[in-house]
Amino acid sequence: MKLVLLGPPGAGKGTLASLLKNSLSILHISTGDILREEMRNNTKLGREVKQYIDHGKLVPDEVVTKLVENKFSGHAVNHGYMLDGFPRTETQAEDLDRILSRVNRPLDYAVYLESSLPVIIQRLTGRRICRNCGALFHMKNKPPKKAGTCDECGGEVYQRADDNEETIKIRMDIYMKNTKPIIDYYAAQGKLQKVDADKDAKEVQDILMKILDEGR
Ligand code: AP5
Repeated sequence: MKLVLLGPPGAGKGTLASLLKNSLSILHISTGDILREEMRNNTKLGREVKQYIDHGKLVPDEVVTKLVENKFSGHAVNHGYMLDGFPRTETQAEDLDRILSRVNRPLDYAVYLESSLPVIIQRLTGRRICRNCGALFHMKNKPPKKAGTCDECGGEVYQRADDNEETIKIRMDIYMKNTKPIIDYYAAQGKLQKVDADKDAKEVQDILMKILDEGR
């Protein structure tokens, strides 16, 4: 299966990707995760992108596109792939089509996770992440069993610097201006599938699996 997960910040792209990658056994590429890892390792790239990410701004197209291109050349994608957080601009969507045509693995579906603003704010302000393994938690929906400690690996659980109301507003504005228009880009290609992502994560996964099974 070859997928792109689209949707506003907090729609649940990362959550759904981690549920699907186990059942589908496909390569998961999250540009947000790759960039945060660069920041964590304090690489030159990590230092360059920190200002964009912490303030909710988009990292320049050529930087993220290169990261995605490298992933595709470094990994076998025979079983498929799932992109999460990329593309985010029309330029990135066009570049992705070029990359996919070069590796001869065209997209099956662009899955649009639709979510409402109150749900997005509740999810993002409550989100916590394991610094070590990246496991996702939520202070209300899915709190770690021991406060501040990851259930999976015992790592430290932290709050992302961009998960505050002020930065969420900037991220939403950028999403509406730059990313929402690419929904039409994929609709025009006949590849768009919309899912109500306000529902519980397991329900969203079941709805999507049904869509994917029907398309096989
Ligand atoms: P990125 O990490 O991609 O952030 P985002 O798109 O803002 O998405 P989020 O990770 O915030 O949300 P999500 O939809 O994955 O939600 P999640 O599953 O975690 O990017 C971060 C930054 O990197 C960008 O701002 C930009 O600076 C840069 N960047 C990345 N890609 C780029 C690109 N292509 N171009 C340029 N710049 C780029 O869920 C959130 C919370 O809700 C969790 O706590 C979860 O447990 C909970 N939750 C999720 N779904 C459900 C559900 N169905 N029911 C109940 N709870 C749920």
